[in-house]
Amino acid sequence: KKISMIGVPMDLGQSRRGVDMGPSAIRYAGAIEKLQELDYQIHDLGDIPINRPDQRENLNNGTNLKNLDQVIEGNALLADKVDKEIENGAFPLILGGDHSIAIGSLAGISKHYDNLGVIWYDAHGDLNTGDTSPSGNIHGMPLAVSLGLGDERLTNILGYAPKIKPENIVIVGARSLDPGERELIQNKGIRVYTMHEVDRMGMSNVIEETISYLKEKTDGVHLSLDLDALDPVEAPGVGTPVLGGLTYRESHLAMEMLADSELITSAEFVEVNPILDEKNKTGEMAVGLMGSLFGEKLK
Ligand code: ARG
Ligand code: MN
Ligand code: MN
Ligand code: MN
Repeated sequence: KKISMIGVPMDLGQSRRGVDMGPSAIRYAGAIEKLQELDYQIHDLGDIPINRPDQRENLNNGTNLKNLDQVIEGNALLADKVDKEIENGAFPLILGGDHSIAIGSLAGISKHYDNLGVIWYDAHGDLNTGDTSPSGNIHGMPLAVSLGLGDERLTNILGYAPKIKPENIVIVGARSLDPGERELIQNKGIRVYTMHEVDRMGMSNVIEETISYLKEKTDGVHLSLDLDALDPVEAPGVGTPVLGGLTYRESHLAMEMLADSELITSAEFVEVNPILDEKNKTGEMAVGLMGSLFGEKLK
């Protein structure tokens, strides 16, 4: 039971500063201690170096994607690191940083699987491309990039594309989807449990269906957990909060069921912004959910 923890102090995929301190906030909330209590051998690899541009929201790259060069550079380093850790037999646990880092995570992880599944636990779809993005923020694009859509320098990190297949994705907690994202979900047949479905079916049924949907056809499942999936009352330290989110209890139940399923082979916790938080409440939420994901219920 080896876990490799990798921090990614990336805040260039969106417009609010402070999310680069997410990895520190999560570590400070006791992530390592929590996992050690659960008998994991945890290796903290520290943080991926992120090159800070002189001028923020640099658009001087021939596209409408903000800070594109730095986001590519950071994700290429992350992809390499994740790739090596899986090669060494460790479970990669990545701490964000904004959600643009999923581009690098998935690039490094998917190399090792023929059919990687992805659970995207998020208020958003993160399925925009430069053509559909309302903001130019790359943290709204990582799932599209991983499907091979968008700027080639992003889709082709580690020299292959696509990283994942649309039928291997499940989005949970969505309640803010842009028009282009809705169209993509329709066209590609991506499975989405919006808040409407969570309310009607209950989280227990949502995760049960998710597990049986992914179980047979995938050979590994990555959990990409954006803290803004949770309601901002319970997880206020995020840059793009959306009302009407998942609760603490629903989220712990989801993590516990995923632990029981033994399906998850890698995970990331992203978008924790301590500057917007209340006394590290959101960092602590991330650590609590990590505990449940790694089997705390059984101990
Ligand atoms: N859909 C919006 C955009 O493209 C918001 C994305 C928020 N993404 C996130 N990872 N929090 O800008
Ligand atoms: Mn080492
Ligand atoms: Mn989000
Ligand atoms: Mn997201």
